[in-house]
Amino acid sequence: MKPRKIKENIYSVGAVDWDRRLFDQLIPLPDGTSYNSYLVTGGEKNALIDTVDPAMEHVLRANLRELGDPRIDYVVCQHAEQDHSGSIPAVLEWYPDAKVVTNPRCMGLLIDLLHIPEERYITVEDGEELALGGKTLKFIYAPWVHWPETMLTYLGEERVLFSCDFLGSHLATSEAFVTDESATYEAAKRYYAEIMMPFRAQIAKHLDTVAGLAIDLIAPSHGPAYDRPAFILDAYCDWATGAPKNLVVVAYVSMHDSTRLMVEHFVRALGGLGVQVMQFDLAHADIGKLAMSLVDAATVIIGTPTVLGGPHPQAAYAAFLVNALKPKAKWATVIGSFGWGGRTVEKLQGMLGSLDVEFLEPVLVKGLPREADYGALDTLAQTVYDKHCAL
Ligand code: FEO
Repeated sequence: MKPRKIKENIYSVGAVDWDRRLFDQLIPLPDGTSYNSYLVTGGEKNALIDTVDPAMEHVLRANLRELGDPRIDYVVCQHAEQDHSGSIPAVLEWYPDAKVVTNPRCMGLLIDLLHIPEERYITVEDGEELALGGKTLKFIYAPWVHWPETMLTYLGEERVLFSCDFLGSHLATSEAFVTDESATYEAAKRYYAEIMMPFRAQIAKHLDTVAGLAIDLIAPSHGPAYDRPAFILDAYCDWATGAPKNLVVVAYVSMHDSTRLMVEHFVRALGGLGVQVMQFDLAHADIGKLAMSLVDAATVIIGTPTVLGGPHPQAAYAAFLVNALKPKAKWATVIGSFGWGGRTVEKLQGMLGSLDVEFLEPVLVKGLPREADYGALDTLAQTVYDKHCAL
């Protein structure tokens, strides 16, 4: 996309990546993404806030040229991950007098990850300001959204918050600002689930900090800018600090249908009790959708056959993911089948050790489920319902 003016003397000069379908070789990007970079021109100095993924540095170059190739005095690096920092070496070549403005921890990471030499930095402390002439950048440390060195940048004169990954969305769009709140909500929730959810406590603190700022515009480093900041701030408050909802996530895999029959019966029983369910067949599921469901779920159920004495590898993968994402679920358990033995339940429980959950009585059956096994699933559904009534 061409450069777009988002406020007086503030331009979005980054790149939209319509075609990227995977991030970190892990996270699906069904709607692409963008790497946002912002040019802020002051009366005396100019600053570039974040750069772009190195694969798209030509777009950044073209956009800066289209704006007359203004002198860049400062490259503010809010976060060392390469989708934002990876073009800093190129920018420093284009503008040999430019300095990288960042915090000491981020500087250390940039030296390690990109080999940018020490003499190219100006380091800033939490709360420090940088005057550009009529525009003042204030840096706000925001560790663990989602790396330890991340910081935000507040431009008080224009009431703009540059929020880096925080509050962002993997969403490729030709629009500079949010125009479709429904699509943006989905993309931002997916992004929160995959990237931010493990750091809910820190996110809540940063939301408090942001609440103390006068903000007209939030300019994240992925996805469109929010000219109605309450839209994304309210959503984040719900996701990060709201109570879990009356929702069960059932993530399962089945080899010869025993586990599938159990899952179908269990989900039907929950539905009959008025409990909302989201069911994912792990052989085909979009793990981003699974992650999104975990934002709200009160209960997580892993369904699996027993393979080589333990859970099916797809179930183990799901358990690993759930454990890493640390959702706010309060209850969990395992259902599934076995042929001749194994330690499926114990292994999965061990893999979910980071969750603050009560483990409910599992239902593991030998072979194809019988009437008594379906009865046990009904009992489990009733237990879940009773627990959810106390939410
Ligand atoms: Fe968008 Fe953590 O990088």
